[in-house]
Amino acid sequence: MLIAPSLLSADFSRLGEEVAALEQAGADWVHFDVMDGHFVPPITMGPRTVEHCRHYAKLPFDVHLMIENPERQIDAFRDAGANTVSIHVEATRHIHRVLESIRQAGMRPGVCLNPGSPLVLVEPVLKDADLLVMMCVNPGWGGQKFIDGSAERIKAARALRDRFNPKLDIEVDGGVNAHTGRQAIQSGATVLVAGSFVFSHPQGAKAAIQELR
Ligand code: DX5
Ligand code: ZN
Repeated sequence: MLIAPSLLSADFSRLGEEVAALEQAGADWVHFDVMDGHFVPPITMGPRTVEHCRHYAKLPFDVHLMIENPERQIDAFRDAGANTVSIHVEATRHIHRVLESIRQAGMRPGVCLNPGSPLVLVEPVLKDADLLVMMCVNPGWGGQKFIDGSAERIKAARALRDRFNPKLDIEVDGGVNAHTGRQAIQSGATVLVAGSFVFSHPQGAKAAIQELR
């Protein structure tokens, strides 16, 4: 099980130091929530943020693109040092082609589903992805509640993984805390993203990550 803290709840005036602190705190990956103000209302960060954070840690950078036309940004995130790029199946007409272009760019491709999207949408491309991101909140904000029924969705995703691509990582993103994180792992998740739970934990990021483990 891997822990990927999300920077969405970090101090945006000190993201480099925050990334270094996450590495010290025992994170496995760093989750970058990229938002363009179109696919979701907020605007957060882009390739230059990833580029400038790159030398603060050796950890894999797990980039979550909540943007329209993600195919336009693949090379920019590769050049910035991203290791995994996840795109929303709802953000492109050509999910198979974009996943292939992420892999051709030398990165690990991830496919991401909003809570309201049926799993069947990603079935045809599970064998082409290294990561399936199951949103358990509606994308755009941190600190939201884990949507009811998410555990069942994760179980269904796990069954598809076992059938189509047993090496696929299942990343659970949104509303993860010690309680929902346990539910997610018991349901078959392999990677937990946590933003507010890590950054607002009273004993700090290291304690939050240990509590999740
Ligand atoms: C939401 C992002 C999530 C979010 C998780 O659109 O994709 O990664 O930052 O934040 P928490 O863990 O606070 O729900
Ligand atoms: Zn995310």
